Amino acid sequence: MSNPRDILITSALPYANGPIHLGHLVEYIQTDIWARFQKMRGHNCWYVCADDAHGTPIMLRARQEGVAPETLIERVGAEHRADFAAFRIGFDNYHSTHSPENRHYATLIYERNRDKGHIARRTITQAYDPVEQMFLPDRFIKGECPKCGAADQYGDNCEVCGASYSPNELRNPRSAVSGAVPEQRESDHYFFRLGDFEDMLKAWTRGGSLQKEVANKLDEWFAAGLQEWDISRDAPYFGFEIPDHPGKFFYVWLDAPIGYMASFQNLCDRTEGLDFDRFWSQDATAELYHFIGKDIIYFHALFWPAMLHGADFRTPSAIFAHGFLTVDGQKMSKSRGTFIKARTYLDHLNPEYLRYYFAAKLGPGVDDIDLNLEDFAARVNADLVGKVVNIASRCAGFITKSFGGRLAPQLADPPLFTTFVEAGESIAAAYEGRDFNQAVREIMALADRANQYIDEQAPWVMAKQPGREGELQAVCSMGLNLFRILMGYLRPILPGTAADAEEFLQIAPLAWAEIADPLLDHEIARFKRLMTRVESSQVTAMLEASKTDLGAAPTEPAAPNPHLARDPIGATLDFETFAKVDLRVARIAEANLVEGADKLLRLSLDLGGETRSVFAGIRSAYDPKDLEGRLTVMVANLAPRKMRFGVSEGMVLAAGPGGKDLFILSPDAGAEPGMKVK
Ligand code: MSP
Ligand code: ZN
Repeated sequence: MSNPRDILITSALPYANGPIHLGHLVEYIQTDIWARFQKMRGHNCWYVCADDAHGTPIMLRARQEGVAPETLIERVGAEHRADFAAFRIGFDNYHSTHSPENRHYATLIYERNRDKGHIARRTITQAYDPVEQMFLPDRFIKGECPKCGAADQYGDNCEVCGASYSPNELRNPRSAVSGAVPEQRESDHYFFRLGDFEDMLKAWTRGGSLQKEVANKLDEWFAAGLQEWDISRDAPYFGFEIPDHPGKFFYVWLDAPIGYMASFQNLCDRTEGLDFDRFWSQDATAELYHFIGKDIIYFHALFWPAMLHGADFRTPSAIFAHGFLTVDGQKMSKSRGTFIKARTYLDHLNPEYLRYYFAAKLGPGVDDIDLNLEDFAARVNADLVGKVVNIASRCAGFITKSFGGRLAPQLADPPLFTTFVEAGESIAAAYEGRDFNQAVREIMALADRANQYIDEQAPWVMAKQPGREGELQAVCSMGLNLFRILMGYLRPILPGTAADAEEFLQIAPLAWAEIADPLLDHEIARFKRLMTRVESSQVTAMLEASKTDLGAAPTEPAAPNPHLARDPIGATLDFETFAKVDLRVARIAEANLVEGADKLLRLSLDLGGETRSVFAGIRSAYDPKDLEGRLTVMVANLAPRKMRFGVSEGMVLAAGPGGKDLFILSPDAGAEPGMKVK
């Protein structure tokens, strides 16, 4: 083999506010197969990743759970690691963007760009939530679509008619966090001057670092003009404070890709002889590849190389984008049970199946890939169980029973063996080009030939005919040698099965170059079943379990703050979900102003024995004294929620557009505190 290459590979960093799902796994499995392939080829290959721990959704999610963001990201990070390990994603390091290394490089990259004049400062006007006292990202503003009038649409586009618009065009806008009417406020922001890098980016784009479809997309973006990029956010924000600008934070997408560097630095610090600069300095000879989904190309193919270049670091060798996962031809959906978490899959099915199925579907382009569940079961059963594993189970018994587990000293069919070895070149080329479905097709064609060989030789007939022992041993040894080659070729895709096969064959982990050496006069272990069939009942059980899985997905905005129930909510609820809401009659024992919050009242609610402290955004409509002694209705089983002013232990119900026109609900005379509302 030629000289070993230095290769650093990354996958995009999953957000730390939700579970890994099968859509994510398209990417991590794709990257892992490529990394394992490069390692098998003998290259110095490193695969790093991290959790993407910053930003508004993570901050709000933590608040909603009443925990510190650090607690949330630690818990979710541990879940992510466990899911990835179970799917045998072989990261060399898995770090976090909320780390000292990342703070260091984010600061360094910002400062170098700033010192070269690539950072501009401007005042912008932005939606502000006066109750939560925070600026609102577009996706945290809801209202009616300006085009079709659909209710409950997010601030940037309408899911009903598909229109896109800016949040200030929404009718009746509301904060999705508190339900308050957003105000417009000014704030100073910092911008990365992307336009400074136009020439450099055009050269980089055309230098073969991008897939053709992606390069074309970039040409459209160049034609549209490169806009300055807002890299700062105001407090409250979970992230890194910008040096010398207290109260201003780096936008999550500024420090997210820098997380690749941070994770690698953290690995270097723990690995003898691994040198950061060899991979990241401007004159680095090492190769650097980022695997990403097609939704985040803009960040990786424009902002990221520009930021690196502006800070005197090298740019990536290539960006590899993939398409999105659909399940049975449709976008993953919670109600159909096709929003499948990694964990739910693992509760029912073997991870090797999914790795194989995705490999069989993945090509080098950005096309979406479909998980068709019927096809999934059929394909895994036919290819892996029916073809590959079957070769070993057809031959192993005879070797164990009649030859003490010893393989023949010679190959029965050297030309066939050579055919298998020679196919390795083209299979390797397919892997290298990320054309995994091509690699799988070629490997399965070989598996067919191996089975055909065994059919023709019919060792079960030889076994019954005295005097043919030599032939029997030779043929079964030949079959097992072909099986060994196939497992070698499949190893990047099926690391678990390959490890089991290596144990059965009693050989060291297969490197690509060793595949060509036959296994002769060698003792193997007793054969154990390497893989069982996919049963359709397992698939059904997984879908059923997914239907009942609750919990927000990372791709969805964090659920709105349940603190104020003033918004019309368009979505329907099934009865079971509704029945979980515990509504109670409560007596307002005390009502007080809250210092520093001009919209809130602190209510002390008597539930007939138990007292709850609840914050309600009703100050504009009520004088606290008028409320004391009144009966109202509250949601009694909301998880306590930490707010700036204290913990809120429930929610009172109110109706009306807001301001003076806000009406809390009250039961008729006769109701008593603590009564359940039915
Ligand atoms: N945190 C950012 C990435 C920062 S990288 C510096 C992010 N996180 S994510 O959790 O939303 O997605 C992580 C990766 O998974 C992205 O590359 C994304 O494209 C990919 N996928 C998420 N859902 C997917 C599907 N349904 N299908 C295929 N890939 C998907 O984006
Ligand atoms: Zn619309």
